[in-house]
Amino acid sequence: MGLSTRNEAVSDGRISGNCMVVLGCQWGDEGKGKIVDVLAEDVHVVARFQGGANAGHTVHVGEDEFILHQIPSGIIHPEKRCLLGNGVVVDAIGFCEEFDGLKARGIVVEGRVGVSQKAHLVMPYHRLLDQISEDNTEQKIGTTGRGIGPAYEEKAGRKGIRVSDFAHPKRVASLVEEGIERARRRAEFLGGEISGDVDAMVDEALQAAERLSGLATDTGLEILNAVRSGKRVLLEGAQGTALDLDHGTYPFVTSSNTTAGGAATGSGIGPTVIDAVMGVVKAYTTRVGNGPLPTGFEPEMDEKFRQLGGEFGATTGRPRRCGWFDAVLARYAARVNGLTGLAVTKLDVLDTVPEISIATSYRTQGGDVHEFPADTWQLGEVEPVYETLPGWESSTADARSLEDLPSAARRYLDRIEELTETPVQMVSVGTRRRQIIRV
Ligand code: IMP
Repeated sequence: MGLSTRNEAVSDGRISGNCMVVLGCQWGDEGKGKIVDVLAEDVHVVARFQGGANAGHTVHVGEDEFILHQIPSGIIHPEKRCLLGNGVVVDAIGFCEEFDGLKARGIVVEGRVGVSQKAHLVMPYHRLLDQISEDNTEQKIGTTGRGIGPAYEEKAGRKGIRVSDFAHPKRVASLVEEGIERARRRAEFLGGEISGDVDAMVDEALQAAERLSGLATDTGLEILNAVRSGKRVLLEGAQGTALDLDHGTYPFVTSSNTTAGGAATGSGIGPTVIDAVMGVVKAYTTRVGNGPLPTGFEPEMDEKFRQLGGEFGATTGRPRRCGWFDAVLARYAARVNGLTGLAVTKLDVLDTVPEISIATSYRTQGGDVHEFPADTWQLGEVEPVYETLPGWESSTADARSLEDLPSAARRYLDRIEELTETPVQMVSVGTRRRQIIRV
């Protein structure tokens, strides 16, 4: 790949370079599934690089709806190679169910899915611990209960089980035995108990993992070879920037790096292989789980947006909290991810709203701040400073170019672009594939 392809990967909202990251810039649920689905048409390989079954990426094709938790959204397009990178924690039972479910719906999956040899497994005792830990603490994170935190804890603690271990049954047996024992002790310490038939649950997980290990591959090598041979690769993020373990609203975060740096470490390529980073933002803000949401609405408006936008979790069905677009967060996301472009989703949800506000800074006791605070408790106390723009009060659902949009909607997008200092390259105006504007 020559230098000439650098940063050209998103010109006119299409992929023209070889390797692009697509990731969320808020608290997840930005509509990444739809953007990845649209972009996947032009690529050969789609790879997830972090997270696990906590994700829920929704894709609409005609009348069909697909909700993908672990397999990259690219699977809906025939012939794309779909990879789960080393940064992912795989729930083998859920993975096999998803794999078989797609097959049952007529999607050809055989030969198309690969899982990194270095990916770690989420075991049933991780899931149980996740719930026990949430149930027995005052400061609840509001996790998805999928065992994500405990699995990453074991990875960082050098006790995890990796896909490559399955070539060595004795090693797996001893890692599992120690894992169960550790989980029991931890549960007891937390004031809970690992209950149920753990051995049966673990047996089922091991059988699924055995099957999964048949798909083991070196994702970094596959991606690099694809890029070198002129093929295009899309690295699909899960959750969002404000849920990043390092850069998010800690401790109300997920346990992986959702930001662009994580795309390199979590897939096994060097950062210089990446040409472009597309940040996905919803035209307003939502959050599920605990932790501050500075631009959150009062209850009536919150309910109105939840209904308008169908804001219920794709993984847990939990209602999402809603609020105005937070440009302080979006600008921060542009910085920590080195964004080269923005995709704005769900613009149509604002179609009936008479006036639309954007938070441009935060008021604090110490004065106005323009940068996203590191202290999550400070973030919980800020008062957003809003700028209010007129709404367009007409449907944008049929717009296919910027010119088709009402002028107030264009102004809103222009303001997002100015405040984030990032070009808007895609705008989604509905759930269907065709409801997209490529700028
Ligand atoms: P965990 O990832 O299940 O440990 O949950 C940690 C935090 O991330 C909680 O606030 C979850 O609600 C949130 N979270 C995890 N996955 C998603 C997602 O896919 N969308 C939105 N929020 C998520």
